[in-house]
Amino acid sequence: MRKLNIGLTDEQRQGVCELLNRDLADVNLLLIKTKKYHWDVTGPEFRSLHQIWEEQYTILNETIDAIAERVRALGNFPIGTAEDFLKYASISEHTGAVPVAQKMVSNLVQDHEQVIRSLREHVDQCSENFHDEGTADFLTGLMEQHEEMAWMLRSFIEGQAVQPDGEQPPSDVRFPAGVAN
Ligand SMILES: [Fe+2]
Repeated sequence: MRKLNIGLTDEQRQGVCELLNRDLADVNLLLIKTKKYHWDVTGPEFRSLHQIWEEQYTILNETIDAIAERVRALGNFPIGTAEDFLKYASISEHTGAVPVAQKMVSNLVQDHEQVIRSLREHVDQCSENFHDEGTADFLTGLMEQHEEMAWMLRSFIEGQAVQPDGEQPPSDVRFPAGVAN
């Protein structure tokens, strides 16, 4: 790792870069899965889902570049092989038969939620363990992007036969936060 004089120790930068490489692996897997569903989706929601997944993989592609270049800015090298992406990711691949559209959406919602949980943990670690507020801020921004992508996908299937978490639809009436029911 390159020596830098930016107020972080080598150990702190090393720790942060390991976290960033894990995030890089997750987003690469999400990109692959999102593209595959963009290609495979069928049914009445074809056009909407085909389009939203193109928008999302475009964002994910930019995110991947930003994460890898942040690792370089911190004096280290990003991982860059399919083998390493699979090894360090917290989400796993969906192999086998092509699922129906609702199941595709549900799979991706759960993947985004896993990535959000992982990013939240990494934000805390960057601040508390490594005193790197810059990367904590960077990862907070990524987490918010995934929260938005998860919300958009979740909205496709809420109230449908397959819920974002794979459960049956809830029958209760929803109220805005803070409004008594
Ligand atoms: Fe396309």
